[in-house]
Amino acid sequence: MAAPVAPAQPRTGARAAIPGRTLRTDRWWVSPAISGGVLAAFAVYATWAAFQNSDYFARPYISPLYSPCIASICERARSGAVHGIHVPSIGIFGPWWGISPAILILIFPLGFRITCYYYRKTYYRSFWLSPPACAVAEPHKRYTGETRFPLILQNIHRYFFYAAALFAALNTYDAVVSFRNTRDQWGHMGLGTLVLCANAVMLSLYTVSCHSCRHIIGGRLKHFSKHPIRFKAWGVVSKLNKHHMELAWVSLVVVALADLYVRLVASGTIHDPRFF
Ligand code: FES
Repeated sequence: MAAPVAPAQPRTGARAAIPGRTLRTDRWWVSPAISGGVLAAFAVYATWAAFQNSDYFARPYISPLYSPCIASICERARSGAVHGIHVPSIGIFGPWWGISPAILILIFPLGFRITCYYYRKTYYRSFWLSPPACAVAEPHKRYTGETRFPLILQNIHRYFFYAAALFAALNTYDAVVSFRNTRDQWGHMGLGTLVLCANAVMLSLYTVSCHSCRHIIGGRLKHFSKHPIRFKAWGVVSKLNKHHMELAWVSLVVVALADLYVRLVASGTIHDPRFF
């Protein structure tokens, strides 16, 4: 049944005088409640995982939360095998300080997600209640949008996109390397290989479907006819961009599951099934 239509209000410049927070009769709170719950669950898990500083490497798999492998502890775990981007161990993130490398690494992928246009909408609705849903009054007296500090910093998103593109490439590299066996020879495939491949694909699709990516490829052009390749790429990115919300959620869940899988294998809790 269609929701009742609010009676027309005189144009006084003030907000419409309605008796409650909203005239909506549907369950408008379900969507922000679920979105906020999933986001909070991910934040809790990622924070816990980032501070573990252990069980993130089980040759040939590395957790996406700890990739690229930059810690001395990971270097030792390799037992001499080359894995991931072979950044020389810089040692300071190992046992000396006890700082987890994930805390440094996650600045970039998490910064990308936190400033993402879609996640902004989600946490503004679910946590800041600004507004909690369309046609539902918010508790705040004033609205300044993203024109002031600190929210004006959300504009940094386009720069996080460049870092995120690099991390998508690193995760893809990790997925390719997971086809090596424990003796560093090609021709291995376990369940972990599929998990890392799924993570690389979803992360890449989420990154490419970004609004900033679409603007970088097709923005600031006066004539698409003079840039046929960019026009074609813009068309592809635009199609993905329509599914940005779905890609944001799926890639978020998959990256957490990929970390959990590597963690369980590395800790010896489960055995990685091998297909060949
Ligand atoms: S808008 Fe969501 S990642 Fe850029």
